Amino acid sequence: MTPLELQEIIQGIPKTELHLHIEGSFEPELMFEIANRNNIKLDFDSVASLKKAYKFNNLQEFLDIYYLGAQVLLYEQDFFDLTWAYLTKVHSQNVVHVEIFFDPQTHTERGIDFEVVISGIYKALEKGRKELNITYKLIMSYLRHLSEDSAFKTLEAAMPFKDWIDGVGLDSSELGNPPSKFANVFAASAKEGFKLVAHAGEEGPADYIWEALDILKIERIDHGNRCLDDEALVKRLIENKIALTLCPLSNLELKVIKKMEDHPVAKMLDKGILATINSDDPAYFGGYMNENYFETAKALKLDKNQLMQLAINGFEASWMSQDDKVKHIIAVKDYFNTVN
Ligand code: ADE
Ligand code: ZN
Repeated sequence: MTPLELQEIIQGIPKTELHLHIEGSFEPELMFEIANRNNIKLDFDSVASLKKAYKFNNLQEFLDIYYLGAQVLLYEQDFFDLTWAYLTKVHSQNVVHVEIFFDPQTHTERGIDFEVVISGIYKALEKGRKELNITYKLIMSYLRHLSEDSAFKTLEAAMPFKDWIDGVGLDSSELGNPPSKFANVFAASAKEGFKLVAHAGEEGPADYIWEALDILKIERIDHGNRCLDDEALVKRLIENKIALTLCPLSNLELKVIKKMEDHPVAKMLDKGILATINSDDPAYFGGYMNENYFETAKALKLDKNQLMQLAINGFEASWMSQDDKVKHIIAVKDYFNTVN
């Protein structure tokens, strides 16, 4: 397969995205546009100088810049524009279903109402469903560097918008903020009917993945790279069909791996883990879904069967109905039958 053939194959695969922070899809050009119209001065004088700052040695260095960028988002229209830009981009890459995170506390902590944030995101998602045929789920993510009490306040603020939210997640600085810190708020979120996911095993150890499973009772792991350190954990993931939402370009940019050839996704597929490919924060890490598939496939020399398995896993691990899963998985298989 030449690189061009590989790119063409990837473009045509009907794809899901299950791990995407909407604030992480904030492209510098749009950031400057929104900053200008909101009369906010960014610390950078051009798109180029901002992009130059996107060099990270670890998760925290990235988060510091990511939270800074989000500060220009003030109004419902800003959240709408951010989400709509993401949807049109992934539509062009043949992504047909998305399950996206938003971080309410990043905004409520600086005085923006929960309603402003979620209304803009929700309206764009609905427009995308109607006009682009992209189905979606919305996940409210608690920031783990803040207290559990703050997460409880977020849960309370979300109550009037319960019908727009499908699940809750846990993100931000992993080391030193284990899942167990949020045991009570996850239990309360489950009682409200939300599905549960959590970032675990990105920088943190395999133990954090166990905690996410056993204490938070999550049903899907975001990242989970470190699971391969623990054979009993791998067995548990396989037996319980716990999916991992992997983000290869993110892992490379945040130095979770040294080079793409070291990415564990091929090993995970070999073992029968329900591994999926996602973009995490595409505006910061140099690529959306197709670029993540492409760079991974190129470095690990993935064959067509492995690419097909990754796409199928995306639908399998999603929260769409069983009927819809079957329909999409048939479409993926039909597509690969046309690719020689
Ligand atoms: N927030 C946005 N991207 C994140 C990541 N990769 N890990 C933890 N928190 C995040
Ligand atoms: Zn993430």
